[in-house]
Amino acid sequence: MAITDQQRADLIERALAARQSAYAPYSQYAVGAALLTDSGRLYTGANVENAAYPLSICAERVAVFNAVTSGDRQLTAIVVATDNGGSPCGSCRQVLAEFGLETEVFMVDRVGSVVRQMTVAELLPAAFRPSDLA
Ligand code: THU
Repeated sequence: MAITDQQRADLIERALAARQSAYAPYSQYAVGAALLTDSGRLYTGANVENAAYPLSICAERVAVFNAVTSGDRQLTAIVVATDNGGSPCGSCRQVLAEFGLETEVFMVDRVGSVVRQMTVAELLPAAFRPSDLA
């Protein structure tokens, strides 16, 4: 589902704000995410690192898990805010793919400029999906 300019602006604002909540003392790479679901609700996330490095979790997955545990599984669009407009990692692409391949992913930089826009299907071609288990 395409989003409006207003929805995109709101998502960008919320992703930048969420980025402020990142806990990234090891990488210094703060990431914020804001996710819009088909219900019109908005969920946010930020990366949270740990002294035991592999336990760290990405902003996108926090946002997706927030949505799903609130009963919202139909993802429309996600904005990922980083210093330089970085792309979602492979693990986050896989988690996003679980809940839809057509979700729009906007990658924005520190000031909220869109550096790249792609669907989950474009980010993760030939994804392994629930239907593969059928
Ligand atoms: N990170 C995210 O939050 N999302 C991504 O998609 C890429 C990486 C985080 C994980 C780690 O806390 C920091 O960025 C550096 O990898």
